[in-house]
Amino acid sequence: MKDVIIACDFENKELLYQFLDKLGEERPYLKIGMELFYQEGPSIVRELKAKGFKIFLDLKLHDIPNTVTKAAIRIANLGVDIINVHASGGIKMMESACKAIKEINKDTLVIAVTQLTSTSDQMLKEELLINNTMNETVKQYAINTKKAGLDGVVCSPLEAPIIKELGLISVTPGIRFSDNTKDDQVRVTTPLKAKELGSSFIVVGRAITASENPKAAYLKCIKEFI
Ligand code: C5P
Repeated sequence: MKDVIIACDFENKELLYQFLDKLGEERPYLKIGMELFYQEGPSIVRELKAKGFKIFLDLKLHDIPNTVTKAAIRIANLGVDIINVHASGGIKMMESACKAIKEINKDTLVIAVTQLTSTSDQMLKEELLINNTMNETVKQYAINTKKAGLDGVVCSPLEAPIIKELGLISVTPGIRFSDNTKDDQVRVTTPLKAKELGSSFIVVGRAITASENPKAAYLKCIKEFI
């Protein structure tokens, strides 16, 4: 289980399709996030699935267990390939959502967000009042995720080794080529480094979508990572 997922952070489907045209015949794994989903609704997911794309629907569910589970059922019924929730919602929330999703399709991967890759050590301590280190926090959230029966976590590639040790898959954003800027990300690595660290899936947004040649950037990611 290893792939490059392109983060399709576009305002609307016109911009998404303009981008997908540049990929030609490629049918990569796509991550549809809140921006596009809230603009276009569930139909965009059905359209992309019908065209043969695998979809990671990145809605990062976080609410009381009952609400998250009901929302997860709606999402699972769209036939998406990866669904995520926030690990900070707790074991009961994750367990209930995961069980409901797997009853609809046992092959859907259910993963949890540990700490956003935009979170710095300073922010963890000063804003979130978490005095443990980033690694300790991610590890505890991953242990909770495993207890809840999920398949894996979203984390920085830098944390992939801890996740692998726990027997979970890691889906890792925060990917940049060595000549890219970091933008708002804090904990970043190259696709090659992510491979060395044992990431299962890398999530790549701007390094591909903002590239002058997105197809070449995508193929470079595949070559480095797979
Ligand atoms: O453009 P870039 O490669 O930074 O995009 C990363 C993508 O991964 C964004 O869609 C962002 O929402 C998502 N993501 C993240 N950190 C997480 C979870 C998701 O950056 N922990």
